[in-house]
Amino acid sequence: MIISLTGFMGSGKSSVARELAALLCCSYIDLDEYIEKAEGRTISNIFEENGEDAFRAMEVKYLKEVIEKTDNDLILSLGGGTVMTAKCKEMVATTTKPIYLQAEIGTLLKNLENQTESRPMLKGGEGLEARISELMDKRETTYRECAELIIQTDGLSPKEIAGKIKEELI
Ligand code: S3P
Repeated sequence: MIISLTGFMGSGKSSVARELAALLCCSYIDLDEYIEKAEGRTISNIFEENGEDAFRAMEVKYLKEVIEKTDNDLILSLGGGTVMTAKCKEMVATTTKPIYLQAEIGTLLKNLENQTESRPMLKGGEGLEARISELMDKRETTYRECAELIIQTDGLSPKEIAGKIKEELI
């Protein structure tokens, strides 16, 4: 089984994937890291050199690759925008057990304050909070639609969130 973690940037998907994999004794893959390794450049570079559409096409390609080559249990941490692409959403919904890590804007803001450089979707003129709210308005319905499980993460450490997921899975 592939357990996929979805949710907004800064919701803790990557750290929770690591903790959950340790807890369930299986491996994990972070889709962003996988793409960076496969492409030999950072996500920021991909956005700068090829633009967002090209990055979204890469998410489709590499998500398919990861799913096809997985024959064991796996925790798969997705990018915050992965399920916004219809093809990815479909793959995630049909071949994985998607868990949405839900976080309030305040939590996301706190987690993202010093991390905007590595996140091209957060660069821009307006303030960070306004940008997060604007993107979240466009995305939250989709996160909820494709989730089999929604986990409230505010105030919890990645380890605690992983523990909560494990309890729900049993
Ligand atoms: C994105 C989220 C990022 C990364 C890319 C685009 C998004 O992943 O895939 O910068 O559109 O929300 P994280 O959610 O791991 O930051």
